[in-house]
Amino acid sequence: MILINGKETATQLKKEIAKQVEDRIAAGKRQPHLVAILVGNNGASMTYVANKEKACAQVGFKSSVLTYEATISEDELIQEIQKLNQDPTVDGFIVQLPLPKHINEQRVIESIDPRKDVDGFHSVNVGNMTLGLPCFVSATPHGIMELLEAYQIDTKGKHCVILGRSNIVGRPMANLLSQKTYPGNCTVTVCHSLTPNIKEITLMADIIIAAIGVPEFLKADMVREGAVVIDVGITRIPADNEKGYRIVGDVAFDEVAPKCSYITPVPGGVGPMTIISLMKNTLRAAELNDTK
Ligand code: GUN
Repeated sequence: MILINGKETATQLKKEIAKQVEDRIAAGKRQPHLVAILVGNNGASMTYVANKEKACAQVGFKSSVLTYEATISEDELIQEIQKLNQDPTVDGFIVQLPLPKHINEQRVIESIDPRKDVDGFHSVNVGNMTLGLPCFVSATPHGIMELLEAYQIDTKGKHCVILGRSNIVGRPMANLLSQKTYPGNCTVTVCHSLTPNIKEITLMADIIIAAIGVPEFLKADMVREGAVVIDVGITRIPADNEKGYRIVGDVAFDEVAPKCSYITPVPGGVGPMTIISLMKNTLRAAELNDTK
């Protein structure tokens, strides 16, 4: 069994991005600039944005955070986004989600210029992704594709079973892995909460992507010997330790791992890779901006 080390892979990829940024600057080009919009004071969102700023500093990007009160109106927020769309010094930007309840998230996302939508949430990017056209792929699917590639996991002709049909993980993963690319060329099955015979299906899988949001859902008796298991779950469960909680994935790791050829741990698997996607997308957005 090989443990897929997302933390180590992310560190390596960050070094490669930092080198590309150095080369850009040596060639007289601008430092890529990522802006994050933070609305209100959701603790988790503040932590995520701080981590994104830290990653930007590590790879040599400029980063800025624009913060707004939770009372900002949808129209005011969209006006701020339009300013960023027009600003040539901003290569890419993200609107940290969730937004306050009175704001329609999809309308806000649709107001972002798709060429600056480094989260890959705009319908133009999602649509281009499904067609296999150039686009920004969102963080988790992109991170999983990078991990499969980093570990040179054979995907061609393999049966990949995806647990979960969310717009942010399950469905884009199904799309990407069925494309005529590497990683890809898989036969894909998507299971969800209304699939009656999940165990029968997972037992036929060469690759399982667990993104169903149920802690330790995937048990050993659902996994075939030699399968590749990618765990996207992150749930905090109460624990008798200093923090008072521990993080568990959608896979019952201790019992499943011995059966696997490759498996991602939680934490330290898919999680650290998600920020790499944002960095890679921002670097590409800067390259697009160079040619505008
Ligand atoms: N909230 C949780 N994850 C994400 C993400 O990847 N992007 C944004 N914008 N908000 C999030």
